[in-house]
Amino acid sequence: MQNISFIIDGRICTTEKGTNLIEAAKQNGIYIPTLCHFKNSHELGSCRVCTIKLNGRAIAGCTIKIDEGMEIEVNTPELLDTRKAILEMMFVEGNHFCPSCEKSGDCQMQNLAYETGIRYTRFPHLFIERNIDAGAERIIVNQNRCIKCKRCFEEIRTNDGYKVFSFLNKGSKTVVSVDYEQEAKLSEFEAEYAMNICPTGAILVKGKSISKPFGNRLFDQGIEGKKIPFNKTNINKTNSLKKRVATTSLAGCFGCHMSMLDIDLGLLDIIEVVEFNKSPLTDIKKFTQRCDIGIIEGGCSNTHDFEVLRTFRENCDILVSVGECAIWGGLPALRNTIPLEECLKEAYLNSLTSEDNETIIPNHEDIPKILNKVYSNHEIVKIDYHIPGCPPNSNHIWSVIKNILFEEEYEIAYPEFKYD
Ligand code: FES
Repeated sequence: MQNISFIIDGRICTTEKGTNLIEAAKQNGIYIPTLCHFKNSHELGSCRVCTIKLNGRAIAGCTIKIDEGMEIEVNTPELLDTRKAILEMMFVEGNHFCPSCEKSGDCQMQNLAYETGIRYTRFPHLFIERNIDAGAERIIVNQNRCIKCKRCFEEIRTNDGYKVFSFLNKGSKTVVSVDYEQEAKLSEFEAEYAMNICPTGAILVKGKSISKPFGNRLFDQGIEGKKIPFNKTNINKTNSLKKRVATTSLAGCFGCHMSMLDIDLGLLDIIEVVEFNKSPLTDIKKFTQRCDIGIIEGGCSNTHDFEVLRTFRENCDILVSVGECAIWGGLPALRNTIPLEECLKEAYLNSLTSEDNETIIPNHEDIPKILNKVYSNHEIVKIDYHIPGCPPNSNHIWSVIKNILFEEEYEIAYPEFKYD
């Protein structure tokens, strides 16, 4: 086969004519992220995570076969941001609760989010109500996690050639459904294969979860030696040595505050350089001075959270959301998929601990009003930094805070950056 030349980001590359671009780029040492693409023979082109520019036009890279003289852009700032935005859209469109997902650590979408540096999403989460279809003999389809990549459509067929998976509905209501009759014809191996080729945790097999121990999963190690530089913006340097810090916990579990305390004796070093103002750590209830930095744990679930958050924005130069609940709502946001009235009835009238014949849902003017959904903090006020994790490691939290306040050099090692 004839070798031809083409250009990626101004660099001359060579490959055989007709090679798939993802493969050709790899041969020349260039990585293009992909998600739906898993075989060069299958050009699904459904996720667009591999978006590149060919002769100036944006296109899914996995659908391109290399020809002589092609000029391709891969890693321009615009394309890096486009690919990140596409992934963020997938996260907000589905209900991806990584800490409670069986595929966590083995999930390609989760790993790609780490790789592309997603720490929060610029779009609001939609929290669309979706089903978990457990009606088939062995396969469970969790529609909350499906990204409609079509891998399962293409790859999973019965011996007599019938497809097992297909789309149901149209537009934003599209979901993957499983044909129970055909699914029953799959062997154990084929059912597990369906689970393994799913790039998220949407396809599972009953009784066969991804059961590798933590630390030994597909993406636990990351790229060896990889460090993610922590980019500082909006640093408000002041001359005084001690910086003032405020902290609060909104709709969260206080786990992030526990993690902050987990630094143990390191706290003595911290208080050499910072002093705490309003915070559960000091029990100071109201701001007594303007603060350099405010650390927010938890998201906004009721009117009180909303007011506290606005007070923090008014009284702090820099605001940092710490932990998953602050960043996108976290576990409290599970209620976003259920109508508020149903949640209240479940909590106050129908729960195991409710009195028999209970009819009252508490509603007094002194009780903060619950919001229609749990909001991430950056939907309410401007947040300057996000520290993901559930909870983030204590050293990591304080290293980031010190980096912001004092510009101490800090790079995040991959395992430290990776939370699930
Ligand atoms: Fe190319 Fe999904 S990897 S469109």
